[in-house]
Amino acid sequence: MNEDKPLRLVLAMAGASGSIYAARFLKALMEIPGETWFVPSPAAIRVFKEEYEANVQTGEDVLEFVRKKWDPKQNHKFHLRKFEDIGADIASGSNIWDGMVVLPCSMKTVAAIRTGITENLIERAADVTLKERRKLILVPRETPYNRIHLENMLALHDAGAIIAPASPGFYQMPQSLEDLGDFMATRIFRLLGRELDLYPRWSPEKD
Ligand SMILES: Cc1cc2nc3c(=O)[nH]c(=O)nc-3n(C[C@H](O)[C@H](O)[C@H](O)COP(=O)(O)O)c2cc1C
Repeated sequence: MNEDKPLRLVLAMAGASGSIYAARFLKALMEIPGETWFVPSPAAIRVFKEEYEANVQTGEDVLEFVRKKWDPKQNHKFHLRKFEDIGADIASGSNIWDGMVVLPCSMKTVAAIRTGITENLIERAADVTLKERRKLILVPRETPYNRIHLENMLALHDAGAIIAPASPGFYQMPQSLEDLGDFMATRIFRLLGRELDLYPRWSPEKD
């Protein structure tokens, strides 16, 4: 992926715990040139409400929440799409995007993408991303995993998806929830071919 080219991304939020990961990724995304088709699921909105004690009802509310909380530069264009709208532009491979991220990704959405049963726009766009051989990055969160979760993730890996669990490292001494979010955001951007210095690189030297 060309670093200079504006990013064209599909970003879905499913109803796993970890709204901080989506929020910090969105904050960084807002600052870089490009456009993103953004689809949160109803369960994602519910979890976001619980985890931030925020009165959000829609994807636009989530974007507004991020803007108000951290005041990032606004260099990015967002297209909000509805979870139920299986006829939206991103339901078709004739539209072009560089990659899709599901952040965080529930075990239910993992299962749906794995089976190809695409009942909503997140599952359909992920299915299209895979069939068009574009980059699909899933950021699952659950613990522990049962055999079904593990088999589904392995099958998705074998089908070309990248399984990037919400599993931030602690060797750089994160000081806040935001640091944990930025660790994951940095890794996801790198998988998309973008180097953003959101979080210090590891160095064993202490001076
Ligand atoms: C507060 C809360 C936390 C949840 N955390 C997780 C989780 O970490 N992982 C997961 O797979 N599901 C979790 N769930 C369950 C999913 O939200 C549920 O399976 C939902 O149907 C997922 O739908 P979606 O994938 O379309 O967003 C959670 C639900 C709630 C209300």
